[in-house]
Amino acid sequence: MKIAVFAGDGIGPEVTREAVRVLEALRLPELVLFEGDVGGVAYKRHGHPLPAETLEMARSCDAILFGAVGDPDCDALERQLRPEQAILGLRKELGLFANLRPAKLFKGLEDASALRPEVAGAIDLLIVRELNGDVYFGEKGIRILPDGRRQGWDMMAYAEDEVRRIAHVGFKAAMGRKRRLCSVDKANVLETSQLWRDVVIEVARDYPEVELSHMYVDNAAMQLVRNPGQFDVIVTGNLFGDILSDQASMCVGSIGLLASASLAEGTKGLYEPIHGSAPDIAGKGLANPMATILSAAMLLRHSFGREADAARIEAAVGQALHDGVRGADLGGALGTAAIGDAIVERLA
Ligand code: IPM
Ligand code: MG
Repeated sequence: MKIAVFAGDGIGPEVTREAVRVLEALRLPELVLFEGDVGGVAYKRHGHPLPAETLEMARSCDAILFGAVGDPDCDALERQLRPEQAILGLRKELGLFANLRPAKLFKGLEDASALRPEVAGAIDLLIVRELNGDVYFGEKGIRILPDGRRQGWDMMAYAEDEVRRIAHVGFKAAMGRKRRLCSVDKANVLETSQLWRDVVIEVARDYPEVELSHMYVDNAAMQLVRNPGQFDVIVTGNLFGDILSDQASMCVGSIGLLASASLAEGTKGLYEPIHGSAPDIAGKGLANPMATILSAAMLLRHSFGREADAARIEAAVGQALHDGVRGADLGGALGTAAIGDAIVERLA
């Protein structure tokens, strides 16, 4: 079990350290960890946010545990050198096209949600976000118009095979859950979305047991706070999935709780919290490591088929929350390491 650990910037190292402690506490005999630099840290040390040796390490490992990237010091750099390019580059280079972002309310956290307890209590959904295409990876630039005005532009595009493969992931995920799939798009305005919808409908023929619905993204954002319990699996494009998953996190209490898996065809995967590097609290030991710890659980499940170990970690996090283990993000006073301790103690 070769795992590359890329802690990155800001709170990345703090939260990743706790996830590594949890993995080590499981005493898996085959576990080997390698560390690599990504993001602003890598830029400062090697002149590039995704150095060749880091990419090579990612290629040679079975899975990647990723912290966070993003550093305000680097915001003025040309885009290709900014920290975010590390994660975008890894997703693209490794063909990690399927991003799974589950959101479920942990028992005892009803009061932490931004929603009313009875609304929040019904949340148990999975966002399947496409990760290799869309406006994220289209051509882009800032150009000067003939009249001298500057214009920023980004090309949004999806080819049918890109939509088809993520649609299959969405339908398969729904088959393993409540068999309801909601495809989110903006087909009333965007041609990219019209093709997306057409292809999802074609793929649906292979999954007659799944109930398929379609929703415009603005409505989906509204429904996610009005009645999130209606969703089982949501499948959507890169940009809409980015936005809706941040929103879903506050519906379950904190962005410090949402884990994610980014998968290629096969078992290779990158696992990361959905939150960013949070430079405002970096280095203070205040960040909630639960999202990263839950990402480590997803790593064991998806890349190594170790369902029992994954469930052990998830149960320990659930138990800790139930017992009132809370950091500042959830109105508590515990720091990053203390939360890690509490989870390791409950692994038994
Ligand atoms: C995420 C993040 C990234 C994204 C950033 C850091 C490039 O927001 O994983 O959700 O936009 O995909
Ligand atoms: Mg995001």
